[in-house]
Amino acid sequence: MSEDTAELEARLEEQDEFEPPAEFVSQANVSDDSIYDEFEEDWPECWERAAELLDWDESYDEVLDASNPPFYEWFTGGKLNASANCLDRHLDERGDEAAIEWVGEPTDEENRTYTYEELHREVNEFAAALKELGVGEDDVVTMYMPMIPELPIAMLACARIGAPHSVVFAGFSAEALATRMESADSEYLVTANGYYRRGDPLDHYEKTREGLGDVGHDVSDVVVVDRLGEHGHGHDLESNERYYRDLVDEQSGAEVEPVSRDAEDMLFLMYTSGTTGQPKGVKHTTGGYLAWTAWTSQAVLDVKPEDTYFCSADIGWITGHSYIVYGPLALGTTTMMYEGTPDHPERDRLWEIIEEYETTQLYTAPTAIRAFMKWGSQYPEQHDLSSLRLLGTVGEPINPKAWKWYYKHVGDESCPIVDTWWQTETGGMMVTTLPGVKTMKPGSAGPPLPGVDAQVVDPNGDEVAPGEAGYLTVQKPWPGMLRTLYQNDERYIEEYWAEYSDTQSDDMDDWVYFPEDGAKIDDDGYITVLGRVDDVLNVSGHRLGTMEIESAIVGVEGVAEAAVVGGKHDVKGEAVYAYVITEDGYDEDDEMRSRIEEGVEDAIGPIARPEQVVFTPELPKTRSGKIMRRLLEDIANGEELGNTSTLRNPDVVEDIQRKVGGD
Ligand code: WT7
Repeated sequence: MSEDTAELEARLEEQDEFEPPAEFVSQANVSDDSIYDEFEEDWPECWERAAELLDWDESYDEVLDASNPPFYEWFTGGKLNASANCLDRHLDERGDEAAIEWVGEPTDEENRTYTYEELHREVNEFAAALKELGVGEDDVVTMYMPMIPELPIAMLACARIGAPHSVVFAGFSAEALATRMESADSEYLVTANGYYRRGDPLDHYEKTREGLGDVGHDVSDVVVVDRLGEHGHGHDLESNERYYRDLVDEQSGAEVEPVSRDAEDMLFLMYTSGTTGQPKGVKHTTGGYLAWTAWTSQAVLDVKPEDTYFCSADIGWITGHSYIVYGPLALGTTTMMYEGTPDHPERDRLWEIIEEYETTQLYTAPTAIRAFMKWGSQYPEQHDLSSLRLLGTVGEPINPKAWKWYYKHVGDESCPIVDTWWQTETGGMMVTTLPGVKTMKPGSAGPPLPGVDAQVVDPNGDEVAPGEAGYLTVQKPWPGMLRTLYQNDERYIEEYWAEYSDTQSDDMDDWVYFPEDGAKIDDDGYITVLGRVDDVLNVSGHRLGTMEIESAIVGVEGVAEAAVVGGKHDVKGEAVYAYVITEDGYDEDDEMRSRIEEGVEDAIGPIARPEQVVFTPELPKTRSGKIMRRLLEDIANGEELGNTSTLRNPDVVEDIQRKVGGD
């Protein structure tokens, strides 16, 4: 490190507040602080500002119908189509401009650009194909696809014909696919035969078939994208399966009138992990969700039509839905998609892509930033990143050190960073600085967005004093919110509203949304999110339920009992620690360990694979028989243990500690 750099690092280390760069402010979509007061005074009508970003077939009667909380309705009576908003309305002015810039993982392959015109054409053709297969309005179509353009095309084709989509992350297991298709009664699947991972063609068809075999109802049609061509694994399709390309070619030139959907009609389902083993089907609707993603893309990501905007998430998660597909395309910008990992073929792949495409915004996750930091600043330094204007992060808390590294080595101290807190359920961003308005404080996401009423409260629901830890809550509804859990209104109330609401009341003011995160708030109203307070882990920004992992482990032959907790991890944020008791007659050996790891991969996917499997004769339990997870977490983190005398079996602790320590 040169002396200059050392000086710079030292200065940055001291600094805990950063003003938005003047050059950024002068061109920002939002640069006037008065927006906070305006929205507060004009709530809920302030959200017309978001709705105005969309084209409506019929305008709405009411901004918010809060007559039956927590079943709120937004923009009621309004009608619109999401695909028309993301495509058709841009054709006149931006038909020849790129809608999607797709970068495949292999470097010796042509990347693909879809102009708005081209994207519109293929979405229409695929929408026609879906209709011909028999997909009707409100039929749920499942997608189990990697990061290829056919995924957003399929999503938009569904939106066009009013069929909600349910995208299952391609890295999830066959079993996870089956559970989600069953839960949604989904009879249609769009998948791919494979994709590339670190240079190798990966077979996805086999896994798909396995999953389909576990679905309890008839799956009428399966569409397969031939991603691998000659590198494919030589499968023959079944009788209810068709290649995507053949279907689209048969519909060449077809046009499908976008169905006018009610604002409150379902746009999609997205399954996410919760405290119990069953994943939750989060339901998002057409009007509120699209308005929310468009508005936040504009106000927070500063997206303008002429930008080349890059979110490095996977579309299989909510971040990709909201901020690769719907938000950016609703605004008519160019959105980028990258198929592969950031370290293939070299650790500068992302920076190379950004340089080549002159990317203007990068939205990524702290886990990626920590990996970049570990690899070293020489990789971003090899490339001209001066096209970047704004940086963003999402998925987990970002520590100030990683924030500052990102600020300096990627943003060259001239890009604001937005640290955006939100969830699958919120549809889009909730807590973050407006980049053209607010001071940035590394480590703290920032104040709630204008019009968002987020507060940090104690167990009684009273606001905590600045600096004290409490629970994050949202005290007023917002347009992008989930509407319910699919076919489970009761669980919706139980999971998100029961904690702090008077659930007998019809008055919106008595209803409080609880995201199950802990947080602190400072004197200026900046919120620092501390992490989940339920039994949900955040591994590399991905949400995993400990119960799901535990039930996968207990399903392995020879396992009697298991407890899963999160331990701190340099890059992943949290890693899975599994404490396992074997049945008599089974050895606590490497073979058992690999069967447990495989069991978890089969049930959920490689992301849930335990970092460490610790065999133990007993689990630490309270006298009433509850597993002391906090203690297991402390052990995983090598921390001092507090008083263990309330345990029924205090002796077991030392034994486990020794095993985690590695002796
Ligand atoms: C959970 C939601 C939002 C899309 C990606 C994850 C954590 C998210 C932040 C942030 C601290 C964050 C929370 C939240 N989280 N963003 N900026 N700072 N924590 O969506 O899978 O629904 O997970 O991610 O714990 O509850 P998700």
